[in-house]
Amino acid sequence: MSQALPKLAIVADAPAAATGSHPAAIELSQTTVTFGRGANAVPALSETSLKIRDGEFLALVGPSGCGKSTILKLASGLVRPTTGAVIVGGREVAAKALRIGMAFQNPTMLPWLTIERNVMLPLKIVQPFRASYGREKRGAFRDKAHALLAQVGLRDFAGKYPWQLSGGMLQRANLCRALIHEPRLLLLDEPFGALDQFTREELWAILQDLWLEHRPTVLLVTHDLREAGFLASRICVMSARPGRILDDSEIGFARPRNIAMTFEPDFVALNQRLRDLIVNARTGAAAPGA
Ligand SMILES: Nc1ncnc2c1ncn2[C@@H]1O[C@H](COP(=O)(O)OP(=O)(O)O)[C@@H](O)[C@H]1O
Ligand SMILES: [Mg+2]
Repeated sequence: MSQALPKLAIVADAPAAATGSHPAAIELSQTTVTFGRGANAVPALSETSLKIRDGEFLALVGPSGCGKSTILKLASGLVRPTTGAVIVGGREVAAKALRIGMAFQNPTMLPWLTIERNVMLPLKIVQPFRASYGREKRGAFRDKAHALLAQVGLRDFAGKYPWQLSGGMLQRANLCRALIHEPRLLLLDEPFGALDQFTREELWAILQDLWLEHRPTVLLVTHDLREAGFLASRICVMSARPGRILDDSEIGFARPRNIAMTFEPDFVALNQRLRDLIVNARTGAAAPGA
């Protein structure tokens, strides 16, 4: 029944203080993660260095259990590095609390609130919005929620309750909620894993539109190589646990991308190359010293 933990879509808002210089949005510097100690120690992430540029859309793919979610949790500050450092928005993650919002793969909408109020929730919690929530929840904040909902095709559903929406619609509302407080960093952990293929493809286009319009830095974990190729501007392939980055490729397909593109030879070739890397990474796990 519970084979997998709930998948997170985490939103961290890096402080806007760093002007002038352009530090990487996220930087792992010789970072390792080991869970537990002694005989129970589980090395989850081998020494990894990775710089994600501001506004980049990076997809992380790799065999199950290789440390992908661990990297997202490092970026959000939920997990601390065992060695090395994690720098988000120019600061070490643990050094100062980041603005963080969360949403789950099975979108955890509050059933007693309308979609509009659910989407506005981060504004009720996160400063500087929080201070004016009481005043703006029927004004500017509601307009903001409506604008986002319209962008994902939910204009007519703002006043509905979560149970009145399909899974795909809820995930769209979830994306709106993830973006409403204008985070500079969007962390998505298999956000579309529970949806059927057609709904998933629809959401790729919506996420692409949202990214093109708002340009947050996105770190997306996915098992779906077509999803990675459709959405990402860069794909990192990880080895089996303890993971490290085996391949790091820029993905230059023109935008906006569409589904037809995913059947073209260049795209199929990319898919096959990534697939081979992951298959080798999985079987390589059994090899000595891997
Ligand atoms: N809190 C934890 N305690 C012990 N082991 C953990 C914990 N979280 C993850 N792991 C282990 O670390 C490895 C990497 O986990 P994870 O990053 O969730 O993998 P992925 O997201 O790539 O499937 C897995 O083998 C997992 O079992
Ligand atoms: Mg995971």
